[in-house]
Amino acid sequence: MSEKPWDGRFQESTDKAVEAFSSSIQVDRRLYKQDIAGSVAHCRMLAKQGIITHDEAEQMVRGLEKIRQDIEDGCFAYSDSLEDIHMHIESALTRDIGEVAKKLHTARSRNDQVALDIRLYLKEVSADVIAALSELQKILVTLAEKHQDRVMAGYTHLQRAQPVLLSHHLLAYYEMFKRDRERFEDGLKRIDVMPLGSAALAGTTYPIDRHETARLLGFSRVSANSMDSVSDRDFIIEFTAAASLCMMHFSRLSEELILWSSSEFGFIVIADAFTTGSSIMPQKKNPDIPELVRGKTGRVYGNLMALLTLMKSLPMAYNRDMQEDKPPLFDTVDTLLACLDIYCRMMPNITFNEKTMARATETGFINATDLADYLAAKGLPFRDAHGVVGRAVAFALSQNKELQDLSVSDLQTFSPLIEGDVYQVLATRTIIDRRTSFGGTAGPCVAEALLAARRELGMD
Ligand code: ARG
Repeated sequence: MSEKPWDGRFQESTDKAVEAFSSSIQVDRRLYKQDIAGSVAHCRMLAKQGIITHDEAEQMVRGLEKIRQDIEDGCFAYSDSLEDIHMHIESALTRDIGEVAKKLHTARSRNDQVALDIRLYLKEVSADVIAALSELQKILVTLAEKHQDRVMAGYTHLQRAQPVLLSHHLLAYYEMFKRDRERFEDGLKRIDVMPLGSAALAGTTYPIDRHETARLLGFSRVSANSMDSVSDRDFIIEFTAAASLCMMHFSRLSEELILWSSSEFGFIVIADAFTTGSSIMPQKKNPDIPELVRGKTGRVYGNLMALLTLMKSLPMAYNRDMQEDKPPLFDTVDTLLACLDIYCRMMPNITFNEKTMARATETGFINATDLADYLAAKGLPFRDAHGVVGRAVAFALSQNKELQDLSVSDLQTFSPLIEGDVYQVLATRTIIDRRTSFGGTAGPCVAEALLAARRELGMD
């Protein structure tokens, strides 16, 4: 029989197929650092409380540090028979330092241990995600500043709607990623809770000090209910939900970059280093990075659904089902960090075709609203003005012209209120700069928004 910590109760050894089926070591081995940090803190707390001696604790801590080194040096053996990272480390410690290692698992269980490991892991990962998000925001701000006064067509229903500043458009993504950052920051409040010492589900008979363990590990709070502590995976779901929203934002940005780089739009060129060609069509230069990011959004949504379904209807407290939380979580983390990284690299390598973008504001009756506002300012009720402009648009269409191409006398056939000053009103830059409402696209408003963004990001 292979030695297992629960061997005492069993007469037969585990079937090899069962070991292979239930092993999670290939997945949870990446929690080794957190598992060791948790064990080190646990040892020190046990010694401080007089549950083990200081000498025993020091032997274990040294042994654990050596295991960390072995793992990092690639000389640590993994085996399905030891199931998960917790058992691997404990068994290696027993092999290395002997009998005393058997005291490591005093007053804890793998149920609170795994909850601790994931929380430690997600604290680190959240900080990485937050840092990467602010990096991306800085890149967006820098791009917006570089193109601060460039105009482009703004769209609704993917039809030209009203002209806007390119910087205003870019700052819309700044806002999305800002909300994402806030969500990850907020999620940290609920990740930053220390579950160890809840033991299997009911707490422990040993005189442990959970607050000391939390202090040693840098947690702000200690979990309040032992049963909830070992069965709570809300924080993983929240993280994945925040990641899903962030990926949704990425998918929107990606979609725009894909459209904008098409010959139909011709708004941007993505540098060669960030595009690929076609194996058959020599002319092709494909926006693979945004396409892949758009595609990976589906993976992350799938992970969220997997986690919600995993936890649905689980009775308290720990159930082995929960081992299935790690593949979707790790995949979410890897995907999100990879997307953040590649976008931080790609965004500065996009060239905006400012002329083409500006040209798109000259056609498509993008100034129609402003003609209606002009008439309304001269006393015509807005609804009537809307009708007048609608008829003028229909006429211009029949002439294959834009509103600004019609003569004053042509325009006057729709309303006598129209005069020579109308052309100024119909000009792109006027249209943009008149939108001075807070959060609008007028130059000074966008300049304000840029300053606020710089301040928020500590860019000055
Ligand atoms: N590998 C397990 C997991 O990830 C650790 C906890 C196992 N607990 C147990 N009672 N089998 O959930």
